Amino acid sequence: ELPERVTIWEVGARDGLQNESVSVPVEVKLEFLDRLARAGLPVLEATSFVHPKWVPQLADAEELLARLDAHDQVRYPVLVPNEKGLDRALAAGVREIAVFASATETFARRNLNSGLDEQFAMFEPVVSRARAEGLEVRGYLSMCFGDPWEGAVPAEQVARTGARLLDLGCGQLSLGDTIGVATPGQVERLVSAFGAAGTGPDVLAVHFHDTYGQALANTLAALRLGVCTVDSSAGGLGGCPYAESATGNLATEDLVWMLDGLGVEHGVDLDALVATSAWMAGKLGRPSPSRVVRALAG
Ligand code: HMG
Ligand code: MG
Repeated sequence: ELPERVTIWEVGARDGLQNESVSVPVEVKLEFLDRLARAGLPVLEATSFVHPKWVPQLADAEELLARLDAHDQVRYPVLVPNEKGLDRALAAGVREIAVFASATETFARRNLNSGLDEQFAMFEPVVSRARAEGLEVRGYLSMCFGDPWEGAVPAEQVARTGARLLDLGCGQLSLGDTIGVATPGQVERLVSAFGAAGTGPDVLAVHFHDTYGQALANTLAALRLGVCTVDSSAGGLGGCPYAESATGNLATEDLVWMLDGLGVEHGVDLDALVATSAWMAGKLGRPSPSRVVRALAG
């Protein structure tokens, strides 16, 4: 049983561009976001209000949002790690944020300079203040399937850590396979572990990186269990600067092709999207890793 409709949460401008070695001018980012909106994507994760030294690629967050030509039907969430980031996001007029936690101790230290428990102390005032301001808050959980330093991550540990994000007041939890090692059986076990702990698939999103070519199979496994929000990046851009061996996200075009074949609604114009990713690949000076982009871009 598949959902009738899937919400595609497009992360190319954030997860994609945060890891590019080529510096992308703000004008190109703005055009990218505009083209993605016109291709029908309903949610465009725009940037992050993190420390500019940690992620120089997104140091232009203020300028980007000030110059953004926001489309009425499109949501533009941003990543926020701490209260300083929230102050910046609120000053920029953001209406929707995501905090990002790690399911493992090592990655919490490397990505947030914080411990597994400490990260929740950092997020608590962010989520409560954001909610008091009427903002939507998503929680990301990284290293849900494997961690380059700690190896396999037990499903129970992930379910327990994810529940803490929901308890803080996050409305949705995105399960991240940061380094792209998951396989479909693991996805079933993890979604079931959340179900057993009282968190249904309606509250979950999935966020697969495609390092081992499993992202689409993993997505299908999640859809069959009732998950109906899927993160992906146009053209398969991306990675994570603080996770060894992380490559791009599931490509949005690959996702759209599969959803079309399954008859699942998504609202995205595939041709417009492919043209956008081909244009972006030109700006980055390398071909898109998406199989669908390669097949369709003339
Ligand atoms: P820290 O160095 O521990 O920060 O970094 P601090 O609180 O000790 O503050 C040090 C200085 O940084 C201070 O300035 C703060 O004001 C400033 P000073 O007083 O020294 O002049 N500062 C900031 N400046 C601007 N914006 C801020 C901010 N916060 C502090 N928000 C911190 C801690 C969390 C800031 C840092 O570790 C950080 O920015 N990390 C972000 C890493 C990141 O963005 N990673 C990629 C996103 S996660 C991801 O990609 C995974 C995901 O896709 C899911 C998946 O695939 O699994 C979501
Ligand atoms: Mg990611």
